[in-house]
Amino acid sequence: MSNTSHIDLAAEILRLKKERNAVILAHNYQIEEIQRVADHVGDSLGLSQKAAETDADVIVFCGVHFMGETAKILNPGKTVVIPDMDAGCSLSDSCPAEKLEAFLKEHAEKNYHVIAYINCSAGVKALADVICTSGNAVKIVEAAPKDRPILFVPDQNLGAWVTEQSGRPMDLWQGSCYVHMEYTRDSISRAKQEHPDALVVAHPECPQAVRLLADEVCSTEKMVTFCRNSPAKAFVIVTEEGMLHRLRREIPDKIFIPGPTDTCACAECRYMKRNTMEKLYLCLRDLKPEILLEEGLRAKAEKSVRRMLELSR
Ligand code: 13P
Ligand code: SF4
Repeated sequence: MSNTSHIDLAAEILRLKKERNAVILAHNYQIEEIQRVADHVGDSLGLSQKAAETDADVIVFCGVHFMGETAKILNPGKTVVIPDMDAGCSLSDSCPAEKLEAFLKEHAEKNYHVIAYINCSAGVKALADVICTSGNAVKIVEAAPKDRPILFVPDQNLGAWVTEQSGRPMDLWQGSCYVHMEYTRDSISRAKQEHPDALVVAHPECPQAVRLLADEVCSTEKMVTFCRNSPAKAFVIVTEEGMLHRLRREIPDKIFIPGPTDTCACAECRYMKRNTMEKLYLCLRDLKPEILLEEGLRAKAEKSVRRMLELSR
């Protein structure tokens, strides 16, 4: 990697962004410095909507690989780059497209309506009828045809939560996010005892034992609205620690406490944290690593992503 120690990375990123007519999209789990130089910071749904409507020539997606891929699915004519090609996702990895394809073949008689959480590869998106995010999953499931069984992939925890909310039973792929699986009933019970006046706000990727202890279960974007509108002054935030930067920046008069795990004071996603200011600068400078997709696969995946965007309006 080049030596960039003499460079004012934030200033150079902003200069290159203008020069390249680029837009920087950053997920809520990114480090604070990246959130500060981004044009939009948000959840998977909000950032997919921004990717769908941008007129920039270059999209720089600071998140993980499937997020950049989703931006490319929606923008085949644009250059889409991500700071680190190895920023993967345990949830996406838990459902390889070949395994899903084989499962659907084996159970062809079921004629499943496949709903795929956006945390999956383009190959899985191409096999799905519709995509959802944690911000619109209940709505997408409620809009599903009533005469076909639903297969929900890949997150069993989000799927179980959506069934609790909607009353719609679904067959669940047994995948999970390793970050949200680190929270336990004990670790969150302890946090509640230590901060009795704080409300517990948890992501639906958490296991049920943790969700049951929460005052609110919602996507990262809805966490911002919930905490802003709540009369409470303090919140235990049970999701990846990057979320705390956004909350503290936008709601400076309230207190945000990271949800602890059994071994750590907070949970970090090792994939999200692969992105650094230096890698962001280099990817804007060199326009790589670039996301490229085979056109047939992209077009199939686009159908299910567009269906989600239409249903989310
Ligand atoms: P949202 O920001 O859409 O709630 O998703 C959380 C997540 O785990 C993304 O990887
Ligand atoms: Fe994947 Fe979990 Fe990391 Fe999100 S937090 S990118 S779901 S491993």
